[in-house]
Parts: sequence; structure tokens; C-alpha cells
Amino acid sequence: MHHGNEKDNGASCHTQDAFEHERMFVLPQGNHLLSLMTVLRDAKTNSTLFAETTERVGDQLIAAALDFVPAEKTPVVSPTGSTYQGMRHTAPVCGVSILRAGASLENAMRRGYAGPLSFGKVLIQRDEETCQPKLFYSKFPPNIASQRVMVLEPMLATGGSACAAINVIKAQGVPEENIIFVNVLASRYGAKTLFSRFPQIRLVTAAVDEDMTLSNHIDPGLGDFGDRFYGTY
Ligand code: URA
Repeated sequence: MHHGNEKDNGASCHTQDAFEHERMFVLPQGNHLLSLMTVLRDAKTNSTLFAETTERVGDQLIAAALDFVPAEKTPVVSPTGSTYQGMRHTAPVCGVSILRAGASLENAMRRGYAGPLSFGKVLIQRDEETCQPKLFYSKFPPNIASQRVMVLEPMLATGGSACAAINVIKAQGVPEENIIFVNVLASRYGAKTLFSRFPQIRLVTAAVDEDMTLSNHIDPGLGDFGDRFYGTY
């Protein structure tokens, strides 16, 4: 009798680990995460389910990213009266959303982080004359330079706006090694570009796709993330 292979993650026909970097963490490609990513990638998924599923993938991404945030030893006394040598995050963390899609990961940060938390925003769009990414708006907490910064951007395609955003954050005095780029789906090209420009950042992602379309969509990808999350299609 055929039981199926529960370890065989057949949902993915694309290589997930073709690009590797010691500061890149790809979530374990278990059947649960792959089933969530299948919902996101399915063109038939409606906006409500897409947004709910993003929250669930976001919870996993933030949990993984928080492992790179320092924590302090914190003993607590359990109901048996014994002391448990625990850990508690105490470092201030700032989530910086690259608008508009990055804001989709803010709720997961609020749920996931019990320590001091603030949010910044960056709006970067392509300049129609130069075709280069241009900063239209930014707002940060005043003490961002001393915080761990999670850059929230679900899609890393060419890396153009991601690199521009990281430059803006570094210009605030944030050391590169304190920046964690939190991402749902990266292209191989985008991940390579990010590390070639900023070798000390960390990248936490749920998947890496090999290809991009001629219009710079990640392929097979999941389409326009912002349009699908906000229902603007
Ligand atoms: N942004 C998106 O929303 N989708 C892509 O495939 C690439 C960039």
C-alpha cells in the first residue's frame, strides 16, 4: 500500500536552496509552510485568504527573525516552585515597512515581540525620468540607531527598492549587522544583490525562486503582493 511520502515536499518544483549565504535564513521547507506558500502562490486565492495566510507566514518569519535579536537570561519560578532559567527579549526593535506591501507584516511583529517595539516607514518608488528607486517618504523613531531593525518587505525581486531602503536606514546610523530583512519570497537575483551590497545584513525568508519574468515579477512567484493583499486588482 502506498502511504505517500510525508517528508517529500512535492508541493515545490523549484529548488529552494540554490543560493546560499551564511547570513541568509530560509525557513525550514516543511509541509505546513509549503501548504501556506501554495495558498499564496495560487492565482485563485482571494484577497481575504491571501491576507490571512500572509499573517500566518509572517508569524513564522518574525519568530525566526527574533532568534537574531539578543535576549537576556531571566530566571522564573514555575508552579512547582522550581526555578527555570529562562530568556527574555529586552532589546528595542524597530520594524521598518517598505510601503506599501511591507505593512502586511506589521501585525505579525506586534503579536510576536513582547519587548520594546516601534515602527518606521519608507516609501520608495521608481523615478520615471531616471528609472532609479527614489525616496518619497520616510519616518523613523528618534533612537533607531541603537535598535535592532527589521526591514519588512514581502517581495525581494530586483533588490532595487530594498537596497535603497537599507541605505536610508543606514544613513540613520543603524549598523548594517543590526538590520534583519524580513521577506516572504525572494528571487535568487534579489538575494544575491542584497548581500553583494550589504554583506553584514541578515535575510530571513520563506522561499527563494530561481527566476524573474521580463517585467521583473518573481517566477513562479505569487504575482503583485500589494494588489493581492489589499484587494486592489
Ligand atoms: N513585487 C511584487 O509584488 N511581486 C513580484 O513578483 C515582484 C515584486
